Amino acid sequence: MTLKSTPDRYGTMAVSIHWISVVLILILIGSGFRAANTVDPAAKAAILRLHVPIAVAVLALTILRIVWWWGFDRKPDSVAGAPRWQERSGQLVHVLFYVVILGMIASGIGMMVLSGAAPMIFGGDSSLLPDFWKHPPRLPHGIGARLLFALLALHVGAALYHHFVRRDGLLWRMWFGK
Ligand code: HEM
Repeated sequence: MTLKSTPDRYGTMAVSIHWISVVLILILIGSGFRAANTVDPAAKAAILRLHVPIAVAVLALTILRIVWWWGFDRKPDSVAGAPRWQERSGQLVHVLFYVVILGMIASGIGMMVLSGAAPMIFGGDSSLLPDFWKHPPRLPHGIGARLLFALLALHVGAALYHHFVRRDGLLWRMWFGK
């Protein structure tokens, strides 16, 4: 398996970025809903001490992913025999992932800047943690979270359909080894 992708499979770099992002985004969704449902400010701040740095790591990975595809790698060929609408909707879901992930990061940073919460989360008095709903980016952050969830469901559904129904080995193109 090579660092770069080939016409029939993704390379080590793309596969690594993909699966590390999956794990981190699942942690972000879990920790985000957990923080939102936690009333105790100290407990909420403790969750956000995990949530925010992981989101920054996802931002770094997403930038790396964009730079990688843009300048260094080419996507494998699309699987033979798939109807045009499936190919198109797959591409649309992939683009929407970028839009929603970057939108989540932008709205998260917006919440932090407008609320001034960062010092209370990272070291200060967490009892002073603000109500994030008082700041406009909180609403798109919540909507984006649900959109991301819906995109994940579509993406996983399509991958499982290829794997178990069409049995075309598509999932293995995004895994390590031969
Ligand atoms: C891909 C990136 C991100 C994902 C997937 C994500 C996920 C989530 C989710 C699922 C929620 C709960 C939403 C709800 O209940 O309506 C949430 C809340 C939150 N997130 Fe994020 N987030 C991301 C980036 C960020 C960033 C970059 C920051 C800050 C710099 C941030 C700060 C927060 C805060 C402060 C809350 C609100 C907690 C509350 O209402 O008490 N998030 N996030």
